[in-house]
Amino acid sequence: MSVEQYIKKRAAAVNAALPRCIRSLRGADPRLAQAMVYTLAAGGKRLRPVLLGAAYEVFGGKAADVLPAACALEMVHTYSLVHDDLPAMDDDDLRRGRPTAHKVFGEAEAILAGDALLTDAFTILLSSRYPRRVTPSCVLAAARTLAARAGARGMVSGQAADLEAEGFLRGKINAAKRRRGLKLLSYIHLHKTADLITAAVEMGAVLAGAPERDVKALASFGRDIGLCFQVADDILDVVGDKKKLGKSGSDARNRKLTYASLLGVGEARNKAEALMRRALPALAGVRGKAAPKADLAALAEFIYRRDN
Ligand code: IPE
Ligand code: IPE
Ligand code: MG
Ligand code: MG
Ligand code: MG
Repeated sequence: MSVEQYIKKRAAAVNAALPRCIRSLRGADPRLAQAMVYTLAAGGKRLRPVLLGAAYEVFGGKAADVLPAACALEMVHTYSLVHDDLPAMDDDDLRRGRPTAHKVFGEAEAILAGDALLTDAFTILLSSRYPRRVTPSCVLAAARTLAARAGARGMVSGQAADLEAEGFLRGKINAAKRRRGLKLLSYIHLHKTADLITAAVEMGAVLAGAPERDVKALASFGRDIGLCFQVADDILDVVGDKKKLGKSGSDARNRKLTYASLLGVGEARNKAEALMRRALPALAGVRGKAAPKADLAALAEFIYRRDN
């Protein structure tokens, strides 16, 4: 099976479960629920839930055991996209091939849909039923990981730094400014993107009750593929096919600091490849099943060469 077929198969289970998660939130305002499902059901690669399931399988279980946790992570990711597209942030009008949530539901409703996706991700994660091998303390550890990686010490700070760095490249770029730019960029990418991708593999591992040493090794793998993921995103914003991406690309308009804008697309590609290669030794050091480890390695390579 190719990695594309693997992702498609794994994503199908997530796609089937996500609308059920929203329906389970009985009593939600119907228009709010509609706005939540709108971006959630629009598609997306589902890479984070697929990574979570693969990491869990390294320690012996089946991805289906932890499907609610995978959905919770995708809900947090989707909230981050809905808010990222808002006029006050990247001001984008296309996401996952559809008009952005605020274009369809209005700005206030899109903000609220994001709020609810984030909060109820924890309802789904903490209130769902799991097989006995996924103990309550494992679920609690996964919730702690998700909160830490998504919050002020994680993704949200990356988004804040990303906005603060708009316009950084204005004026003359000398070697010292380029060095400062690179330092800033590694902070932005680490938090705005790599943190949730790290959370995916960490959550998979802690849900399986994996030993600390293996959780750490997987987190290191997750950080590097997460950084690689964002460098690829920066490149695609410049050279990608907008139709395939399902988004219109706004980095140039917003004067974003990205690897492509700082180093050019060629150097950015080298950076992405180096990150993908750097990720692999940590994965190799994890003590677990070979087949899901090979799936994770294939996912790393996919993240590097993806075109959407
Ligand atoms: C886009 O994430 C936002 C970034 C962190 C770069 P994805 O490229 O995973 O978006 P979807 O989920 O496939 O739509
Ligand atoms: C978004 O980065 C990261 C998060 C949503 C946390 P981008 O702004 O580059 O993502 P896209 O390109 O809009 O998907
Ligand atoms: Mg952004
Ligand atoms: Mg954006
Ligand atoms: Mg982008």
